Amino acid sequence: MKAYRAAILRFAPDNDPHACAVYEDDGLLVVGPNAQGRQVVQAVGPYQEVRQRFPGVAVTHWPGRIIAPGFVDLHSHYPQTNVIGSPAEGLLPWLENYTFPEEKRFLDLEYSAQSASFFIAELLRNGVTTALTFATSHPTSVNALFQAAQQNRLRLITGLCLMDRHAPADLLNQPAHDGSTDATEQSLLDSEALITRWHGVDRLGYAITPRFAPTSTDAQLRGAGELAAKYPDVWIQSHVAENKAEIAWARALFPASRSYLATYADFGLLRQRAIYAHCIHFDDEDRALMRDTGSAAAVSPTSNLFLGSGFFDYAGADRVGFQYGLASDVGGGTSFSPFHTMLAAYYVGREGQTKAGLSLSPQHLWWQHTAGAARALGLDGVVGNLQPGCEADFVVLNPQATPLLARKTALADSLDELLFSMVVLGDDRLIERTVISQSSQA
Ligand code: GUN
Ligand code: ZN
Repeated sequence: MKAYRAAILRFAPDNDPHACAVYEDDGLLVVGPNAQGRQVVQAVGPYQEVRQRFPGVAVTHWPGRIIAPGFVDLHSHYPQTNVIGSPAEGLLPWLENYTFPEEKRFLDLEYSAQSASFFIAELLRNGVTTALTFATSHPTSVNALFQAAQQNRLRLITGLCLMDRHAPADLLNQPAHDGSTDATEQSLLDSEALITRWHGVDRLGYAITPRFAPTSTDAQLRGAGELAAKYPDVWIQSHVAENKAEIAWARALFPASRSYLATYADFGLLRQRAIYAHCIHFDDEDRALMRDTGSAAAVSPTSNLFLGSGFFDYAGADRVGFQYGLASDVGGGTSFSPFHTMLAAYYVGREGQTKAGLSLSPQHLWWQHTAGAARALGLDGVVGNLQPGCEADFVVLNPQATPLLARKTALADSLDELLFSMVVLGDDRLIERTVISQSSQA
């Protein structure tokens, strides 16, 4: 067992997003192994009270620091690290001119491995301890990322990008070398082999990953849905309703479905553990479909602002009641920092405020990137919080990290003021250390 003394931020276990932060000025976090040998939170609360219950445990003291749950990033693309900051008129030319050419390079194992190590180091530097992320259409890219995540003991979910049409030929899924399968069939066989190899190994999880409906044939989406039915505890990730031109394209390709989102439902790809990036241009029937299937949105505000895609409608999501959490969407997104993402989400929420009287509180923003995102993944009580039983992934924040942060946080009169100062002024400098849950089997 180990114990850490500092200020501690966590969230009430019932996960009400609006007023659920719990903050201890002088707290103690006690971590120790669970039955599987993984370090989890054993106790948390005011220092004086918790210390009495664990008198023999050595305490590491971080005066002036804040312990907070590791961040959960609901959507990104590890092969797009080099694509950050590539300007384009909108999503489709951005994909064609910048993203697809870069993703082709992940056929190479060496390139994939080097990119995977950099990506994971960048997540950790920014305090992200759980990530759902895209790889490319090359199995090498998936294996490289799982290997790097396993070495770093990160909780990471990824999968082979399914795309069997409407992209450059050398980025599409490939048939078997001996011609025994076509590209579609092979992509599904490869996905299943990767599930068998990686899903549930250490802290790794598999996500069935159709890129988006326009780059898959009906046969590929049908096969992805069948795979999802066969493996109910794997995740599903894709994109939906991000950009007007993309939506028109998807509607033209799948005219029988009621909407772009409904296309995924028609192929069995909406359910719990299905995470759809963007979800901007929805009507209420789409929102109800998200809610009724237990699917969740990965809200990606820096990406949506950078690519001019639009504004996630928080008021609509809350009115109908579907789940969502925050995501960097690197490389459409502009930053690995959860602070930058939370601030962009605040701007987006302000846009909605003028329409619906809604404003996002700093507690709600922080929740969306920790406990709320974990809940969207079906991992509440496992990650994204520091309640007893949660895996001991946490960040140590230094509110003195820059002169302006020190000056501003010292003036905070309330928890909301303190959190807002960090959301607005924070970046990777605020993350003094990132602690990942250890396993005695490691
Ligand atoms: N839609 C399909 N592929 C992508 C992608 O790589 N990034 C974003 N933002 N949207 C997509
Ligand atoms: Zn994306």
